Amino acid sequence: MKLLITGGAGFIGSNFIRYWLKNHPADNIINLDKLTYAGNLENLKEIEDNPKYKFVKGDICDGNLVNELIKEVDIVVHFAAESHVDRSIIDSQIFLKTNVIGTQILLDAALKNQVKHFHHVSTDEVFGSLALDDKTKWNECTPYDPKSPYSASKAASDHLVRAYGNTFGLKYTITNCSNNFGPYQFPEKLIPLAITNLMEGKKVPIYGDGKYVRDWLYVDDHCKAIDLVLQKGKAGETYCIGGMTDDINNLEIARMILKILGKHETEIDFVKDRPGHDRKYAVDWSKAKKELGFKPEYDFSSYLEMTIKWYRDNKEWWQKIKSGEYKKYYQLQYGKAQIR
Ligand code: NAD
Ligand code: DAU
Repeated sequence: MKLLITGGAGFIGSNFIRYWLKNHPADNIINLDKLTYAGNLENLKEIEDNPKYKFVKGDICDGNLVNELIKEVDIVVHFAAESHVDRSIIDSQIFLKTNVIGTQILLDAALKNQVKHFHHVSTDEVFGSLALDDKTKWNECTPYDPKSPYSASKAASDHLVRAYGNTFGLKYTITNCSNNFGPYQFPEKLIPLAITNLMEGKKVPIYGDGKYVRDWLYVDDHCKAIDLVLQKGKAGETYCIGGMTDDINNLEIARMILKILGKHETEIDFVKDRPGHDRKYAVDWSKAKKELGFKPEYDFSSYLEMTIKWYRDNKEWWQKIKSGEYKKYYQLQYGKAQIR
């Protein structure tokens, strides 16, 4: 089997490529990635010489390139996206271009070349936001209600994928997954930002009152879920994927990280809230459990510790990121108060 992975130099994509080559060593992978600020070939150092792996630097919006690459493959797993909510609030244009137009270009090429399976990696954020006291969990029938430019662009891409299935018969599947954490996550997202800031002697910026809830999943569980969808998923189906955390909020996560690193609560900095901040996410993954046999394997607290250990052991990886372009973004997002 030959797979085209888009966005394979990012956080989840690079974990997925490592996972796939380990678990399906006979398969070939082409990784198409533009290497935006979030794409990093260091994430794939371990496998860069694997003869089953090929990297192509390029944009999913480049129709000719995408068409040539898709000719060679059986399966597309589409991760490439602009993925950070805060950046979509600063400027949403590239989100529309990559997440919507880029997906449409891939879909056209997949259709033209009769790809056997197009898997679209999406997010639970398309469902909007729950109240803190709401016990509802989102499932595959929940209506879309995206609230940020990022989630609106991902919702648009999901609709396009389904439209290509309905109108042209494209064989697709979609996963809507909750918040991932683990190694190689870019240090703009809450968990790696908190860990690396504390390791640098800086504070953890917590938006608003910190009582915002996410449904955390260790990245390998997400990779395994996609694998199960590729093996057992039905064309035209969507699968919600989530974790096992029980309504844990950002403040509690920050405290867990502080404790593991032996730091005091005074290292938490309450900063201006994210505009339109979604209060709570919760995912019902029972369809994936029933139909695919999916169940998260990795519990939050042990794998948070493992993740902290990874950032401790891989300081060079994140220090390089944080010393470059990132500084400008940090200044723009958090202002002078955060830079000590
Ligand atoms: P990321 O930002 O770490 O990586 C994105 C990758 O896409 C980067 O390597 C980047 O260079 C590449 N890319 C961006 N624009 C491109 C373009 N035009 N052409 C080719 N490559 C391009 O993102 P991530 O956190 O790994 O997320 C991957 C996917 O999973 C995204 O589609 C995201 O919406 C989805 N998702 C993420 C999470 C999460 O918690 N991180 C949860 C659910 C779903
Ligand atoms: O739910 C899946 C989504 O999870 C993915 O689709 C997105 O690509 C991914 O970025 C993530 O979105 P979030 O906005 O939930 O993740 P983030 O790490 O940015 O924020 C997690 C929570 O932490 C959220 O409530 C905002 C808060 N936060 C975040 C940052 C960066 C802070 O309080 N302070 C911060 O500095």
